[in-house]
Amino acid sequence: MSLPSPWRQFFPGILALDTQQQVWLDSAATAQKPQAMIDSLCQHYKNTVANVHRAQHQPGERATRSFEAARKDIKHWLQADPQDVLIFTKGTTESINLLCQALAHHLQAGDEILISAYEHHANLLPWQQLAKNLNLTLTVLPMEPTGHLDIEYAIAQLSTRSRILAISALSNVIGHSQNLQPLLNAAQKQGVWTLVDGAQAAVHQRPNLQLLDCDFYVCSSHKLYGPDGVGILLARERSVRALRPWQFGGEMVRHCGYHNAEFLPAPLGFEPGTPSIANIIAFAATLNWLKTLDIHAIAQHEATLHKAVLDGLRARDMQIIGSPNCALVSFNAPNVHHADLALLLGEQGIAVRAGHHCAMPLLQHLNLAGALRVSLAMYNNSNDIDQFFNALDQSLEILQ
Ligand SMILES: Cc1ncc(COP(=O)(O)O)c(C=O)c1O
Repeated sequence: MSLPSPWRQFFPGILALDTQQQVWLDSAATAQKPQAMIDSLCQHYKNTVANVHRAQHQPGERATRSFEAARKDIKHWLQADPQDVLIFTKGTTESINLLCQALAHHLQAGDEILISAYEHHANLLPWQQLAKNLNLTLTVLPMEPTGHLDIEYAIAQLSTRSRILAISALSNVIGHSQNLQPLLNAAQKQGVWTLVDGAQAAVHQRPNLQLLDCDFYVCSSHKLYGPDGVGILLARERSVRALRPWQFGGEMVRHCGYHNAEFLPAPLGFEPGTPSIANIIAFAATLNWLKTLDIHAIAQHEATLHKAVLDGLRARDMQIIGSPNCALVSFNAPNVHHADLALLLGEQGIAVRAGHHCAMPLLQHLNLAGALRVSLAMYNNSNDIDQFFNALDQSLEILQ
C-alpha cells in the first residue's frame, strides 16, 4: 500500500523530521504544527503585541479585538451555541482542575463523582484529591476488555448521591471511541453535572457541542495542531453559573477593596492575569485553517493508516490493548519489556510513546507494567508505517 498524505506539506516540523530520518508516531502526546499556526504567531509577535482588556491605546484595543475574535472562532469550531461560555486555560489538565475547585462549594461528604476506568490522570487525580478532601465517593465505572464502557451498567450506577460525571470521549491508551450521549443524558436527567474530556477525541472528529449534550467540555490546543499552553473549558450558560472563581488576580474584578472584592462573570472572572495571548490567537488561526480542510478525507486517511497498523501488529502476534477504533493503538510484544522495545525503535528513528501513558490505574487493572503506543495524525503516510514495521521487525529479532 502506498498512501501519501496531502497535508504533510503544511507541517514544517514533519518535513524537518523527514530530513533527520525521524518518524513521528507520537501525535497523541502532542501534534506537529502547521505553517498557518507559525505564521499567526510570527504575525502577532511582529506586529500586534499588546496586553488585552486593559489598555485605552490602539494597539491594546487591536489585541483585545483579535483575542475576543479568537474566542468566537474557537467556539465556532466547537459548533457551540453563542450563549455557551468559553474560558481559556493552560490546557485540559488546568480546565479540569478549574472545574474541581469551582464546583467544590456545591459538594458535601457522601456525594459521588463518577469517572471511567480508562481516564488519563488529568481526569482522575483532580477528582480523587477533591474526594479525599471533602469525603466524597469516587466511583470508577468499569470497562469491557475491548475498552468499551458498558453504558447500561454505568446508567444503573447513577443515584441521588451522584453529583458529577467526568468522562473521556477517547482514551489515550485504548483509542476506542463510543457514543456517550445516553449516559450523559441519563446523568443530566438526575441533575448530575457532566464533563467530557475531549483532549484526544477532538483531534479526530470535530466536536459538535450542539449535538453533544454535556455541561462542560475540555480540550488542549497542543494536541489539536495548535500552540502549547492553551486549553479551553466550554461551559453551558446554565452550568457556568454554578462555578465560583478559583484563581484570583488582575483583570477579573468588577470591584476590589482591601477586604472584599466583586468578580466579573465568566469568562473573564475565570481568567485572572495576562492570558497566553499570542498562543490563543494562533490556536484560533489553526482551527480556522483546519476548517478549510476536508475533514472526511482526513478521517478516511487516518482510518486507512490505523487499519494498516492494526493489521501489521496482528500479523506479528503483538498483544493489542482493547479494540482501538480511532487513530491510536497500544500494544506489547510477548516476552519483551516495552521500554526495551521503545529504546530500540527510538534508536532507529521511530518516535512512539512507551510507559504507563498517565493512566497507571488502567494499566494496573490490565496487569501491565506499561505498553507502547503508536498514534496517528493527518500528516502521517504509509511510508511512516512501513518504517515503523521495519524497525519493529529489526528490534524483535534482537529482543525475542
Ligand atoms: C485523554 C486525555 N485527557 C487529558 C490529557 C491532558 O492533556 P494536557 O496535558 O494537554 O493538559 C491528555 C493528555 O495526554 C489526554 O490524552
